[in-house]
Amino acid sequence: MNHLIAPSILAADFANLQRDIEMINNSDGDWIHVDIMDGMFVPNISFGFPVVSAVKKYAKKDLDVHLMIVDPDRYLKAFKDAGAASITVHYEACPNLHRTVQYIKELGCRASVAVNPHTPVLLLEDIVADLDMVLIMSVNPGFGGQKFIPNTYKKLADIKELAARKNPGLYIEVDGGVDGSNAAKLVKAGATVLVAGNSVFSALNPVQAIADLKSSGL
Ligand code: DX5
Ligand code: ZN
Repeated sequence: MNHLIAPSILAADFANLQRDIEMINNSDGDWIHVDIMDGMFVPNISFGFPVVSAVKKYAKKDLDVHLMIVDPDRYLKAFKDAGAASITVHYEACPNLHRTVQYIKELGCRASVAVNPHTPVLLLEDIVADLDMVLIMSVNPGFGGQKFIPNTYKKLADIKELAARKNPGLYIEVDGGVDGSNAAKLVKAGATVLVAGNSVFSALNPVQAIADLKSSGL
């Protein structure tokens, strides 16, 4: 399967959000990545339900909701109702991760777990068979526009091996600092979904930037 591109609207112009969503609708982008930050799990606050619902109103692509929040169980149904197709929770934020994952699946969403740069992928050994996707953080979560952490390639090798043993259909998403300089190498290392914020929205031609990421590594 060809890899997917999920432009992250954290880097969009919030005063022109409809325009930026329509740009993604008319691009090779596959999903729209939606970053939710609570100022507790991460040191930043992004946006909440009214914004997600507004994005959903214009989006013609699946919303890929990434929850960087503590105790996400409180809000899973609300994000489903706001339009999420995928919901990612953080390994580090979920003491009862198996229950949380089952709840996401009961809601009818793709269930995904993110691991921070310091969290070994092998900790997912006993949950990976239940997941639709694993998100490898290639920066510390909380902000767009950060520098890519090269240890991500080693983590991709680990998750690829784990997925081959336990869940061959698993999506493997990489999030943070993805751009034209590393996209091809990430795809070759096993990434099947690339999230990209600044490299898309700060490009002179965002539609072309998305097309370039989509053809990377082919
Ligand atoms: C970071 C977010 C990312 C962010 C990526 O905490 O999870 O999704 O939007 O932005 P870039 O591509 O600019 O690193
Ligand atoms: Zn994200």
